[in-house]
Amino acid sequence: MPTHSIFNYAVEPINQWKEGMNADAALREFMKRHPRFPQEGREKLIRAVFAYFRWMRWLERDQLADQVESASVIQERFARDPHSIKDQTLAAWAVPEWVWPELDFGPEPAGDALKYAWLRSLQKTPPLWLRARPGTATALGRRLGHCGPADTPLAPDALRYNGHDDLYRSAPFEDGAFEIQDLASQVVGTLCAPQPGETWWDACAGEGGKSLHLADQMQNKGTLWCSDRSIRRLDNLKRRFSRAKLYNYRVAPWETPDHLPTRTKFDGILVDAPCSGVGTWARNPDARWTTALKDVQELAAVQLQLLNKVAGSLKPGGRLIYAVCTLTRSETTAVSTAFGAAHPELEPVALSTAHGLPSTATTLWPPEHNANGMFIAAWRRR
Ligand SMILES: C[S@@+](CC[C@H](N)C(=O)[O-])C[C@H]1O[C@@H](n2cnc3c(N)ncnc32)[C@H](O)[C@@H]1O
Repeated sequence: MPTHSIFNYAVEPINQWKEGMNADAALREFMKRHPRFPQEGREKLIRAVFAYFRWMRWLERDQLADQVESASVIQERFARDPHSIKDQTLAAWAVPEWVWPELDFGPEPAGDALKYAWLRSLQKTPPLWLRARPGTATALGRRLGHCGPADTPLAPDALRYNGHDDLYRSAPFEDGAFEIQDLASQVVGTLCAPQPGETWWDACAGEGGKSLHLADQMQNKGTLWCSDRSIRRLDNLKRRFSRAKLYNYRVAPWETPDHLPTRTKFDGILVDAPCSGVGTWARNPDARWTTALKDVQELAAVQLQLLNKVAGSLKPGGRLIYAVCTLTRSETTAVSTAFGAAHPELEPVALSTAHGLPSTATTLWPPEHNANGMFIAAWRRR
């Protein structure tokens, strides 16, 4: 174990964050610089650094290491008793003020309850979700141990991991038996429901989290086009597909507003667009202090541009799914309303009657599934 206290070690990544690096990247750098830092210490360090960002506005001591220690004390107290902090204090201090006019919790009193449940969800460590290969969740849970089920049919292969092992170094991971993927992202894949033999396009595939889920549902049959503006991310996607032994895909680097990467017409298109990530603020607690309203507005324009660009690539009857892991009006309902109004050739379509989701758009709020927040909308070409 390190001789230095965890709170002192935490100063290094927090200072890097203050210089502009995100906390995840700063922690990864720290681990590279300290390769012999024990696994148990790594977890403690991550918890201490993340507690600092959650409780940043509560911290009054002068020295950064002391502030980290205070944050951990508050975190523990909050874990024991989530009502140790008053609703109004959370609303004033846990998130930046700009976010309030951008959030729609629905009518009171349920809206108010959701608002405070959301704030509380931001102040605790979220669970780690795995996606097993289709139909193998129970067997995987036995193999890994420390796993619990997810109780939603919208993520049938999800497992909650409660253990402390480094799963990236586990044999089942190297065999491609599972991916680490948030439950809300798994719901997006389930709602896409691509069929074996179809032709789909994941237009913002990134490192392939959702592409892998789509390809798995297609049972390695048909074609999934995966595009993204980042070649580096697409390279990681290829590595993940090869670990999963999935081959029904092709990669096509693409960035809006460039010309489309193909004239192919698709049975389905997923636009898992770049967004402000407000739905991930529990998992990335530093992001609430670095994301600004200006980002929301800029990203909303990119989202609309992406949707407008891909819409013409649907076959008649083809479905377009729009997903963003954020909760701001500008990037969710405002984008889907503006897009729908500009495309009379498309009609809003139920997300999934099979799963009892007849609405054409939905917001998954973090406290509902103990997962990231996500907005999902669907259209069909007439
Ligand atoms: C939310 S992430 C995608 C995550 C991915 N679908 C997954 O499940 O792992 C959004 C992606 O959009 C890409 N992107 C951002 N701006 C873009 C643009 N103008 N055109 C195409 N892709 C873009 C980013 O590189 C990023 O990988």
